[in-house]
Amino acid sequence: MSDAADQIFATLKQSSQSGAPLYLQLRKSIEDAVNRGLIGPGDALPSERDIATKADISRVTVRKAVQDLVKGGILVQRHGSGTFVAPRMERVEQSLSRLTSFTEDMARRGMAVRSAWLDRGLYAPSPDEMMVLGLSSSELVARVARLRIADDTPLAIERASLSASVLPDPAGIGSSLYAALGVTGNRPVRAVQRISAANLGETDARLLEVPPGIAGLHIERISYLASGKVIEFTRSIYRGDAYDFVAELRLTGPSEEGRP
Ligand code: GLP
Repeated sequence: MSDAADQIFATLKQSSQSGAPLYLQLRKSIEDAVNRGLIGPGDALPSERDIATKADISRVTVRKAVQDLVKGGILVQRHGSGTFVAPRMERVEQSLSRLTSFTEDMARRGMAVRSAWLDRGLYAPSPDEMMVLGLSSSELVARVARLRIADDTPLAIERASLSASVLPDPAGIGSSLYAALGVTGNRPVRAVQRISAANLGETDARLLEVPPGIAGLHIERISYLASGKVIEFTRSIYRGDAYDFVAELRLTGPSEEGRP
């Protein structure tokens, strides 16, 4: 067994006087070992049996600690091959003041972008879509739903809705929605974005390759043409461990004080 594993169990012995349940102590020892870099992303954890023998605790206790860490995204289990330290996410820093596309954001960071299609087509609009896009019930909405992947890591699920009059062929947008809108002179120039916390449901978590229930960001973007017409209504789920949204704040000058 590796030195790192030995160290995990040494820490466990030291903390065994603390009175906390054993599985919590083991969980903490493994977490500490990961945080201190004793075991790194992609490293295999010793088998349940090895840990139980070495730490002199039951396999049920080991399983409970390991499952907690899998749920928390610290460890990943691969069927048939064991338990590993989860790959560390390079967090992407995203400015909140520039209206850019996913493709542009990732290209600027030198990341290779691709998307997996989840849905694309023309549909009867939902009440939300009718309200935001100003559509009547006899008009159609174009929906483009994609899993957005950067450097092979799924980062976000984006579901965009646009009027079918703007995007009559949603299957023909290629790799960038904004590039396609640019071609027809419909690229948005302004957007309002609303960000809220969300716990990922089963389906979204599976697509984003994270444990269900983990923290994510729900982002809604409504974007506009220069004429003031709404062009895009997009609802996205971003991985919470992958994104930092950064907003620049300025002290209001005396002349602007008191303005809304
Ligand atoms: C961002 C926005 C989406 C927008 C998308 C366009 O990710 N959150 O609202 O639809 O960019 O990206 P692309 O042009 O790469 O398809």
